[in-house]
Amino acid sequence: MINHEFIERNAGVMGIFIALAISVGGLVEIVPLMYQASVTEPSPGVKPYPPMELAGRDVYVSEGCYNCHSQMIRPFVSESLRYGPASVAGESVYDRPFQWGSKRTGPDLARVGGRYTDEWHRMHLINPRDLVPESNMPGFPWLEENKIDPDLIQTKMRVLQGMGHPYTDEEIANAPEVVMGKTEMDAMIAYLQFLGLSNNGRDKK
Ligand code: HEC
Repeated sequence: MINHEFIERNAGVMGIFIALAISVGGLVEIVPLMYQASVTEPSPGVKPYPPMELAGRDVYVSEGCYNCHSQMIRPFVSESLRYGPASVAGESVYDRPFQWGSKRTGPDLARVGGRYTDEWHRMHLINPRDLVPESNMPGFPWLEENKIDPDLIQTKMRVLQGMGHPYTDEEIANAPEVVMGKTEMDAMIAYLQFLGLSNNGRDKK
């Protein structure tokens, strides 16, 4: 009979039991989550990113803004007072990949939409120290020069549509026109202004 002492004296047997315990524990915690509506269904009002906002989101990811900014307000009073209501999983169903993160060199951006004007963001992204003298955020002046590719946006939307994002064919057909001639800066600002507005967070327009 296998008793506790035997298991503890045999590293191999111990390893097998540890692997078994972790797998069962993991499966019991993770698998049910995959089928829970609260994490697979969009929260009320949450919509997929329109073309400009979607293009801006990709610029956000490619510039690595997530290295300093999270998009996940934790359920603590101090966080809610500063950033607004705590984030819920259903707000991120159209985020691929999600931008939650835990690294906060700068503030959380989950509900930054509507907090500043477009012009504030433009000046801030060109040189943050013009507005916040003590800021250590780098400037991103090249966003003003780079144009959004109108052909690529349709491909991205089609791929997302295939993954279940409810874009209509009409929205996809009109997308190139929406982003035509726009810069990465315009797209980034559209994205930032969209964050936290289409969901059950703050009561903002
Ligand atoms: C090296 C870290 C770092 C990186 C990278 C960075 N930021 Fe920041 N960001 C900060 C810090 C620190 C602040 C707070 C001071 C300030 O407002 O400039 C900030 C502030 C902000 C704010 C104002 C938030 C608020 O609620 O006041 C926005 C919006 C923002 N950043 C967007 C971006 C975007 C978009 C990118 C990528 C293009 C980016 N940041 C990259 C560090 C960073």
